[in-house]
Order: sequence, then C-alpha cells, then structure tokens
Amino acid sequence: MKGEIDRNRLPKHIAIIMDGNGRWAAKRAMPRFFGHKAGMEAIREVLRACSDIGVKILTVYAFSTENWNRPTDEVSYLMNLLIEYMHKEINELNKNNVKVKILGDLSPLPPTAVEEIEKAIELTHNNTGIQFNIALNYGSRAELISACRNIAKEVRDGKITVEDINEELISNSLFTEGDYDPDLVIRTSGEKRLSNFLLWQSAYSELVFADVMWPDFGKEELMDAILEYQSRDRRFGKIK
Ligand code: FPP
Repeated sequence: MKGEIDRNRLPKHIAIIMDGNGRWAAKRAMPRFFGHKAGMEAIREVLRACSDIGVKILTVYAFSTENWNRPTDEVSYLMNLLIEYMHKEINELNKNNVKVKILGDLSPLPPTAVEEIEKAIELTHNNTGIQFNIALNYGSRAELISACRNIAKEVRDGKITVEDINEELISNSLFTEGDYDPDLVIRTSGEKRLSNFLLWQSAYSELVFADVMWPDFGKEELMDAILEYQSRDRRFGKIK
C-alpha cells in the first residue's frame, strides 16, 4: 500500500466497474469463463475489505443491459455464476450483516436467478451493515428513460406538476433511490470510460482507473484507490 488511509474521510459509497475478466483469462490461455469465475472470487475480498473499513455502500457492475449481446454461452455462464454466488454466499452475507440490493430490471433474467436474488433481498432486508448493490441488467440510460416515463405519468395523472421535477425527484426515481451518490467510481483493467454506469449518480464522483484486471483487484488495490481518492480536492463546482 502507498500510505495510510484517513478513516475520517472515507468514501461512503464506492462503485466498481469490474472490467478485465476475459483478458485475465486470455493471459493464462484459459477460456473467458475462467476469468469470470475468478472475478466472482474477487468480489468477496473487496466486499469484506469495504465492510471492515466502514464503507456504507459498495456497488458492483455485474451485468449491463449491453452484456446480453455477448455469445449465448457466456451470458448463460454469467447467469449461472450469479445463481451460484447467491446460493453459496447468502448465508455468509447475512451473517456479516450485509444488505443486498439490486440495481436493474430483473424481468428478463432466468426465473431461478430471480428466485435466488429475491431470497437474498428478503433475508438481508433488515441488516444494518454494508449495503451491497449488484447492478444487474443495469444501464444508466434505460434507468433514466424509465424514470422520465414514471415522472411523466405522474404529471399526466395530476399527481405532481412540471415544477415539482427537481434533482431530488429524479434521484428518487432511480434504482439507487435512498442511496448516497458514489463518492468514488473505480474501473479496473486500464480502460477509461463509464460504459453507461451510474451516469446521473456519478456527477461529482471521483474516478479512479486501476491498471489491474478485475480478478487481480483485492484489498491492497482497493486501499490504493481510496488513497488516491483522498488525495483529490473535491470542490463540487465551488472554489476554495
Ligand atoms: C467484465 O469483464 C466483466 C463482466 C462483464 C462481468 C462481471 C461479472 C463478474 C465479476 C462475476 C459475476 C458477478 C456476480 C455478482 C456473481 P470482461 O468480460 O468485459 O473482460 P474483458 O474486457 O477483458 O473481455
């Protein structure tokens, strides 16, 4: 690690674009699936480290609205991995007081996946530890379209007026309703883009691009990202 974390200036919400599973596997002359499996293991370590240090919310980008365009066998593998993850981890997550939340529209997911997810949400509903948001079939643009439609219906039905539309109303119409906006967005693998992830919510987030592939991202890399975050001067459009 490259220094000491200031526990009084921790990011409350960390959001991660877990990129590079495929390249990690290719480097080992293994199929892409192998990388996704290793990626699943990395989530465990990072969630634990976030929880231990006192981060309030961890969001991971597990499956985007665009990921359906991958080959069918990769999509099926990812869905099965999700089912396996939920099934295997749920008791441990619950024991550790983790609260599971999903960002995204679950309706196109296989019924077994939805079942496991709903079980996890219900079981952990009253937990008071770290909130673990899994972005699944998530896309920021789809989320904003859905929010616009819901707000437009409320105006049409006379429940609110056009003047009632403000930042708070829009924030509360998103999957992240009630959550702090992410203070820190991390993307692994060296790619530097947001890929339709939390576009509204990350308006003032600090972005950290880590040069390791997601399966190699662990506690140490997380602490380095937090240190980089703490070295930034967050002004939110103001001057000092
Ligand atoms: C990006 O790497 C990763 C994904 C699209 C899937 C992320 C999924 C996991 C880490 C495991 C499953 C998650 C849960 C919650 C069980 P990539 O495939 O785009 O890698 P590449 O850019 O190197 O090809």
